[in-house]
Amino acid sequence: MFNDRLYIPRIAVINDVCELTHDTKLLRLRFRDRRVPAHDGDYDYKPGQFVQVSILGAGEVPVSICSSPTEKDSLELCVRKAGQVTSAIGVLGEGDELGLRGPYGNGFSVAQIRQQPLLFVAGGIGLAPLRSLIGYVMDNRDDFGKVTILYGAKTKQDIVFGSELKQWAKARDTDVAITVDKPQEGWDGHTGVVISLFGALKNASAYTAFVCGPPIMIHFALKELLDMGLKPNRIITTLERHMKCGVGKCGHCYLKGQYVCTHGPVFSYEQLDVMNARL
Ligand SMILES: Cc1cc2nc3c(=O)[nH]c(=O)nc-3n(C[C@H](O)[C@H](O)[C@H](O)COP(=O)(O)OP(=O)(O)OC[C@H]3O[C@@H](n4cnc5c(N)ncnc54)[C@H](O)[C@@H]3O)c2cc1C
Ligand code: FES
Repeated sequence: MFNDRLYIPRIAVINDVCELTHDTKLLRLRFRDRRVPAHDGDYDYKPGQFVQVSILGAGEVPVSICSSPTEKDSLELCVRKAGQVTSAIGVLGEGDELGLRGPYGNGFSVAQIRQQPLLFVAGGIGLAPLRSLIGYVMDNRDDFGKVTILYGAKTKQDIVFGSELKQWAKARDTDVAITVDKPQEGWDGHTGVVISLFGALKNASAYTAFVCGPPIMIHFALKELLDMGLKPNRIITTLERHMKCGVGKCGHCYLKGQYVCTHGPVFSYEQLDVMNARL
């Protein structure tokens, strides 16, 4: 039977907006029907899940939840202007409201990575979904092995969550390296694409890797990690597909026998290989 309640958004209020780059904002949200800005109890989610965000008169888009489930004060979304809906979200300010459906998708399997060395590879705004998992790992640091975070941005000005990257670097047994694509004035750090940081990895094959970013970066990073000896079921990425319903009904996100919105968006290289999905 058609369940129309599936499509009813819950109203969220923007508590705070933080400008991360010229086109990317971090929104801190609370639900209008709650007294405090918490998502406890009736709003549990896993790192790697996403919500469908709607704006009256503009439309609805999928956006990854970028806060950790351990963060009980607010739900955070990092949105980059791409077109109509994301631009409409981009002009919202404190006190404005938007609709949320979800959380949707499979998310990352946290239980399977406990006590293991973890490698996070992010490009640009691809750090957003990984930030949810990294935050979870940092808040439960003793449950996980060594953490290495490699982050690449086009330019210094495109780096998102810079202060958090610095903070994570101070955590126990955690390395963080940042690179920008080309040399530029005012940047004395590493230059080159994020894959150029792989050379410094020690004992690389022991890692479980999480890779998120533009499709071209994912394509080359996955191949390189495989060549470095990481097991295909331990190379994890997220797929971005055009989505409408987010709940496995409309078929917009269908890819090689899978609905990316429900079976994904998180897939291992092994799964993508079986699906014969070209990245
Ligand atoms: C699971 C998932 C998680 C996402 N998480 C985030 C996030 O955390 N932050 C964020 O800013 N964006 C995220 N996106 C991408 C975001 O949904 C798209 O940028 C958005 O749908 C564009 O809608 P629009 O109306 O603003 O632009 P449109 O006018 O619809 O499109 C503008 C451009 O973006 C392209 N585009 C539209 N939808 C997608 C899509 N789903 N994937 C790739 N390209 C698309 C179009 O082809 C076009 O070139 C996510 C997408 C998915 C599927
Ligand atoms: S978005 Fe409708 S089936 Fe996945």
